[in-house]
Amino acid sequence: MSEKHATLTIEGQNYQLPLIKGSEGDKAVDIRSLLKETGYITLDSGYMNTGSCSSAITFLDGQKGILNYRGYAIEELAERCSFVEVAYLLLIGELPTREELNNFRSLMAEHALIHEDMIHFFDHFPPNAPPMSILSTMVNSLCNYYPELNSNSDEALLSIGARLLSKIRTIAAFSYKKSVGHPLIYPRYDLSYCGNFVNMMFDKPVKPYVVLPEVVATLNKLLILHADHEQNCSTSTVRLVGSAGVNLYASISAGISALWGPLHGGANSAVVEMLEGIHRDNNDFGKYIKKAKDPNDPFRLSGFGHRVYKTFDPRAKIIKRACEQTLKALNVDDPLLEIAEKLEEIARNDEYFIKRNLYPNVDFYSGIIYRAMGIPTNMFTVMFAMGRLPGWISHWQEMMQDTKDRKIGRPRQIYTGPVKRDFVPIHERV
Ligand code: CMC
Repeated sequence: MSEKHATLTIEGQNYQLPLIKGSEGDKAVDIRSLLKETGYITLDSGYMNTGSCSSAITFLDGQKGILNYRGYAIEELAERCSFVEVAYLLLIGELPTREELNNFRSLMAEHALIHEDMIHFFDHFPPNAPPMSILSTMVNSLCNYYPELNSNSDEALLSIGARLLSKIRTIAAFSYKKSVGHPLIYPRYDLSYCGNFVNMMFDKPVKPYVVLPEVVATLNKLLILHADHEQNCSTSTVRLVGSAGVNLYASISAGISALWGPLHGGANSAVVEMLEGIHRDNNDFGKYIKKAKDPNDPFRLSGFGHRVYKTFDPRAKIIKRACEQTLKALNVDDPLLEIAEKLEEIARNDEYFIKRNLYPNVDFYSGIIYRAMGIPTNMFTVMFAMGRLPGWISHWQEMMQDTKDRKIGRPRQIYTGPVKRDFVPIHERV
């Protein structure tokens, strides 16, 4: 085997497959010529070993617990940036200067409203409609009101990014207001991205909401930590749907649907429901641990485990700390925090979880923070979607710009159905 190739022997014949290395040392065998040369495909359900693209956006090392956006460590970004700054970084590839950031912020403020006709859409969802279904429907509908991205320039990308980021926030807050039957609160020019969101959620004509800096700082941190995570299920969905040539809004709407699942972003609300269950069961941790370990029970410990991280999720570390600090700052005494910490301790000392490298992930502590802010459980995954949006847009754009390797996403399969047989006319069938 040469250094730059792997040799694959099939039916006595050798094939040379190029080896590829990423800038941070990721290694891959390039199998793009495999089918043509050998007649074989690769089979990899769940894409456990499959790289679907090359990407310059996010690097993560699941063994070491490293996560970098555009080369910057997540710990530093979460500590020192605003969400809007990180969104700019993901979209454009560089941190903005003060002037660039101000321009991006102004653009967001300009685009913060949604067409008044769209507000009537909210009236036609049933009262208990899940906010994630409302969000994905509304985002898909945006293409009827706002033009698509029709240029590859940074300017066009910032414009569509600003539009989507600010409108998704408005849609999220409006969907909450509609669900509780309160008048809508419109975005304000003088408030920051996160300040505007909490104000639109909680301000009332009868009781003005005071935007607390602690809430804004924590929300910024949470959204930054969710902003991208390379080829996860929803981002891969955005890329796959977009690869068929459909518009950005439809691609993002599909990504929102993927995120909704309890194995993905839906885990943040599932965690809180699980912790509430433990609380109701008088802290019977053993019952939940036993169920999670039972191979015949579909129950899993929500907020635990990850496809890529085989150590502590670096985002979970930061969120756990932020959770303790925020509850203290807001003077909130939530019994679920203590239950979560105890559950973590039990699981991390249990052979089952140790053997399988199951650690708390990004969703384990985030819900407890949202609760402390007054955000209802059914909105948690909407919060995740708001955070993940810059990542989805950046990946969609990166794919669209890749004119060399861009192809419609179209996996293969191994057919296992009946072999070719003769058609039986209906009167002869028994
Ligand atoms: N509780 C109990 N057992 C688990 C858990 C869990 N949370 N996660 C994995 N396992 C077991 C699983 O049963 C399997 O055991 P065995 O080898 O005996 O069959 C082993 O660990 C490997 O699990 P897997 O399902 O093959 O791993 P995966 O990489 O396909 O799944 C996962 C990753 C995140 C879907 C899974 O860990 C899980 O279901 N976690 C709970 C849901 C959750 O928290 N999702 C959020 C993920 S992070 C944020 C995001 O992506 O949105």
